[in-house]
Amino acid sequence: MLRSTLKLLVLLASFSFLAACGGDDGPDCTDTMAQMRGSVVVMGTCTACHSATSANRNGAPPAVNFDSAADIDTHEARIRDRAINLKTMPPAPPTGSGPLAAGQISDLEAYLDCR
Ligand code: HEC
Repeated sequence: MLRSTLKLLVLLASFSFLAACGGDDGPDCTDTMAQMRGSVVVMGTCTACHSATSANRNGAPPAVNFDSAADIDTHEARIRDRAINLKTMPPAPPTGSGPLAAGQISDLEAYLDCR
């Protein structure tokens, strides 16, 4: 009896350990719609200027394009900094439309965190 109670306790302890492992270390990537909207922010807004095929880059640096996943990898830290932290991308009018709305920023974060 004591032996089986001990076994049960060990079993329960290991389950709670497993549950703790799946805890909130990483970002919450369950909202796939937010991630999708975040990719649309990049493809629909940023690439107006930051694309190899942009008709008018409005002065965006020639090497800073967001056309592919590899491009996003290369520039991810600066994308986060300019669009999410500093809110200086897109540029203010008359060059651009100004900072992203709060909802677009959280969508962009979800996209970058979970891709
Ligand atoms: C209307 C054109 C335009 C749009 C739209 C635009 N950018 Fe830019 N971007 C620029 C220009 C011009 C520069 C160079 C001047 C500067 O750095 O402020 C630039 C520079 C950058 C740089 C490189 C400079 C650095 O700080 O590392 C990054 C990264 C960047 N933009 C991110 C973004 C992101 C992310 C978006 C979309 C949320 C975006 N941009 C939308 C015009 C644009």
